[in-house]
Amino acid sequence: MTERIVLAYSGGLDTSVAIGWIAEATGAEVIAVAVDVGQGGEDLETVRQRALDCGAVEAYVADARDEFAEQYCMPTLKANGLYMDAYPLVSAISRPVIVRHLVAAARQFGASTVSHGCTGKGNDQVRFEVGIQTLGPDLKCIAPVRDLALTRDKAIEYAERNELPIVTTKKNPFSIDQNVWGRAVETGFLEDIWNGPTKDVYDYTDDPAFPPAPDVVTVTFEQGVPVALDGRSLSPLQIIEEMNRRAGAQGIGRIDIVEDRLVGIKSREIYEAPGAMALMTAHRELENVTLEREQARFKKTVDQRWTELVYDGQWFSPLKKNLDVFVDETQKYVSGDIRMELHGGRATVQGRRSDTGLYDFSLATYDEGDAFDQSSARGFIDIFGLSSKVATERDQRVEGGGSVDSLEDVAKLSNESTGA
Ligand code: ARG
Repeated sequence: MTERIVLAYSGGLDTSVAIGWIAEATGAEVIAVAVDVGQGGEDLETVRQRALDCGAVEAYVADARDEFAEQYCMPTLKANGLYMDAYPLVSAISRPVIVRHLVAAARQFGASTVSHGCTGKGNDQVRFEVGIQTLGPDLKCIAPVRDLALTRDKAIEYAERNELPIVTTKKNPFSIDQNVWGRAVETGFLEDIWNGPTKDVYDYTDDPAFPPAPDVVTVTFEQGVPVALDGRSLSPLQIIEEMNRRAGAQGIGRIDIVEDRLVGIKSREIYEAPGAMALMTAHRELENVTLEREQARFKKTVDQRWTELVYDGQWFSPLKKNLDVFVDETQKYVSGDIRMELHGGRATVQGRRSDTGLYDFSLATYDEGDAFDQSSARGFIDIFGLSSKVATERDQRVEGGGSVDSLEDVAKLSNESTGA
């Protein structure tokens, strides 16, 4: 039986050429798999037909938008997933959902190998192949761009020679990956990290310098997941889409960073994630209201580790699954409403409301008749500071002298620092 290879297919030039390129290089039959994660553009049927026209023996397309929103974007929101405190994991979370469909298609069509269009320099090759190995340990992986010397110039030449039904003329200067959670743009003049992004880099967001009137939105959460906007119940996908529109119109969620890739390269990346960033602002504030202090402090560490695992292609790893359990458990009472003003590049929280919150007005108020017993504060502070105080006494006994500089020394130091 002829060997079969499943190819992650986008409908673009490189993966369209890859169909024939792989078939010629390996003698295998190629099955194209296209997954819709909200990247927009052509409809799935057009993409399916093009795969067949380019020589695929089968073409499988999946609308995974709800699956992606519910099972990948929502966990990222619950974990406040921001790599290097900035990047909301846009591409990193789309790879595992694509991997699930690739492995399912490999099983359905009896393929032994899975192929993707990544280069050898990025994170995405790692995410695809680690994911494929984990879900299908018997499957092999190949990457035509990396392993079969398929360059862009060769792709254009191949497409023209074979009269493939794809547009090869317009050369986009950027490498773009996008889905409903956001958009990633790299390469071209952005590789000079002194260059600022030009207007044509952006698509999901309008210029925050010229915003329309402020837009006030109330996001309702249940157990860490947004369930309604301004009182209208919506699915996670609908909420992300509407927030992309509304926050995007205000220029919210533009990110420009130099990022540490897993493969050791520092790279310059521009992201736009208006919905994701606005929802994360709301989610974090609702956690401030509903999580107990120590739980919140520890969750920050867990969130960061979760984010690094996901960035590093470990979505299906045991530790990532363990951390999911912790994060989910913390979200038990993360329910309520957050009111935000979206304006001029910022989502600003203005109001919070939760039946399961820990904010207690009678404890917090500085008005008359509060419930907090201030007389207990003294004893608490005495004991809280005791260990440091005992240590100071020891230092004085052993080293001699006072622990604090004399007034003269303090004056001298402050004069030095002001240059007086
Ligand atoms: N650097 C980002 C990441 O590793 C984005 C990658 C985007 N891929 C692309 N082909 N533009 O998650």
